[in-house]
Amino acid sequence: MVILCELPVHSQKEAVIEVIICPTAESANHLVAQLIADTVRAKPRAVLGLATGKTPEGVYERLATLHKEQKLDFSFTTTFNLDEYLGVAASNPQSFRSTMDRQLFSKINIKRENTHLPNGMASDLESECAAYEKRIMDAGGIDIQLLGIGLNGHLAFNEPMSSLTSRTRPKSLTPETRAQNAPFFGTLDQVPARAITMGVGTILDSRWCILLATGSSKAEILLKAIEGPMSAAVTASALQMHRRCTVVVDESAAAWLQMKEYYRWVFATEPEWAPYRSLVTAH
Ligand code: GLP
Repeated sequence: MVILCELPVHSQKEAVIEVIICPTAESANHLVAQLIADTVRAKPRAVLGLATGKTPEGVYERLATLHKEQKLDFSFTTTFNLDEYLGVAASNPQSFRSTMDRQLFSKINIKRENTHLPNGMASDLESECAAYEKRIMDAGGIDIQLLGIGLNGHLAFNEPMSSLTSRTRPKSLTPETRAQNAPFFGTLDQVPARAITMGVGTILDSRWCILLATGSSKAEILLKAIEGPMSAAVTASALQMHRRCTVVVDESAAAWLQMKEYYRWVFATEPEWAPYRSLVTAH
């Protein structure tokens, strides 16, 4: 028997952007963690794309619990993070590397050599960015990419007017993004001006994108990204042309969406979501 490829669950469904509205942020976190866990169980060598920020913290907490309580095994899993600040060493507690170590990697049985982030201290940025793209390709591409959304609609650090075909590269952060990330650094002055980020094109190459957005502060930008026109002005809107994108939101983040009732109907009727319905209502 020839096995053509080892596909993660849900990958049979193509060319769709689906929105799942969960009653609370906690249930949204649980659902996303479950989707990642099921992918890892179905494909132990899964390549996970990971994000930082406040939003995914609850997902990482839940994954750590699933590892502890249900022996969810990450020993064959590889991860690639979306971005890293420029000029911030991995050892700096504010680096995305330290954040990931703290929030997830130290709590699960993943091999350190299988966890990848861009090197924010690289002297040759062009080579670093090209090498990061190559490492993703050599790993077989990203099976499931977890994403948050910035208040200006950015994915990773793809600020407004980033090309929707962009690849990993250095990027200057907008004042708005620096302000959004200031709480992690203490003061605005301490937030780096630039970062290395996967490009929108890099993200769109992932086999499955999961965008998680919770809280009322994300409601307006989510409307623009999901139901507005596709535009480089809101880089997350590029997900509208992704082959498989699942947007998981809580009621507060969903507040401005016009198609809410249809999304609820799809989640309630599509057979693939049947195993997840009780999980969503349980929290
Ligand atoms: C940063 C990250 C993004 C993240 C965004 C939203 O800018 N580079 O990947 O999605 O913040 O962050 P939060 O989840 O804290 O709202």
